Amino acid sequence: MQTRVIIVNPKKPEIKKIEECVSILRRGGIVAFPTETVYGLGADGLNPNAIKKIFKAKKRPADNPLIFHISNKDDIRKFAKNIPSNAEKLIEKFWPGPLTLVLKKSSLIPKIATGGLNTIAIRMPSHKIALSLINSLGNPIVAPSANLFGKPSPTLATHVLDDLNGKIDAIVDGGNSVIGIESTILDLTTSTPTLLRPGKISYLELKKILKKVEYHPSLLGKKTKIIKVKSPGMKYKHYSPNAKIILIEGNIQNTQKKTQELIKKFKSEKKLVGIINNKSIKKTPFIKLKFIGTTKKIIASNLYKSFRDLDEQKVDVIIMREVDNSNLGFAIMNRLKKAASEIITV
Ligand code: TXA
Ligand code: MG
Repeated sequence: MQTRVIIVNPKKPEIKKIEECVSILRRGGIVAFPTETVYGLGADGLNPNAIKKIFKAKKRPADNPLIFHISNKDDIRKFAKNIPSNAEKLIEKFWPGPLTLVLKKSSLIPKIATGGLNTIAIRMPSHKIALSLINSLGNPIVAPSANLFGKPSPTLATHVLDDLNGKIDAIVDGGNSVIGIESTILDLTTSTPTLLRPGKISYLELKKILKKVEYHPSLLGKKTKIIKVKSPGMKYKHYSPNAKIILIEGNIQNTQKKTQELIKKFKSEKKLVGIINNKSIKKTPFIKLKFIGTTKKIIASNLYKSFRDLDEQKVDVIIMREVDNSNLGFAIMNRLKKAASEIITV
């Protein structure tokens, strides 16, 4: 299959190009497109055969359900049922945007999309390209992140091409996905709303609207130990580049010392090391440096890209220091811990 790349203006999507993409979706094809979080791999959410193609192209296990994307807040009533009043408040405040809600699904929703669950994960993205695709299709678009299973989510069209060229019908190139990490997922089917995946919309922001929010237990352990799999995606290792990631937690001084030790060890093993966000390390033929920013917002935006860039430079190991764990930092640390092969506390 030849994958077409269609360049679309993210601020003012050209109607003709959107219609071209939608005609592919109508025929049951699969199209990658940008959202404000990461690129998604989309199919017509009401077409089981098209949805099947997503699982195949990504090599995604069939029990890992997909997120439904809608372009109109009211459509939630078509695709979810028993919607609690909490949901209305959250939607009012955070949609369109990077918040996914888990609700009871309506009978319109094909089982293949939800991995057999009787719930649906649903969000209204804010990205103009995503919204115009959904609008113009007239059906919800189901879309997981547009990476091969287990790889970091794509934040640029070239990342999608690297993983899925020849396996999908088209890619809408609309520039970079600004937030850079996937949406916050909140389960509203439990007696107390449960945070399943942290994202840009933080626990505290949710708590301001809801009286009570629980963390899913798997979010609190040092390692991502699975206690009870609620979001099937939780049980899989995730977001990893090919290189092995070592995450160092602790104060700056001890981190520097440990980093130097590790560099020495890997140098003796003739391994190429990538270092993210550590200005005290000097570049050598064995060391590739990457500075991805000082604020959490910018770190999130560049994190997956930095993994992919270092993979391209063929590093064997990536060493990165922890970020402060509050708000967006909690989401960044969640992804780092999932991607890491080793977490060292110093
Ligand atoms: O920001 C995002 O959410 C991006 C963009 C494209 O919208 N999408 C995304 O999709 O990250 P994906 O498939 O990579 O992650 C979806 C997560 C998985 O962990 C999956 O298990 C969970 O959502 N999920 C989907 N349906 C669910 C459900 N009914 N109950 C619990 N978890 C669900
Ligand atoms: Mg994903």
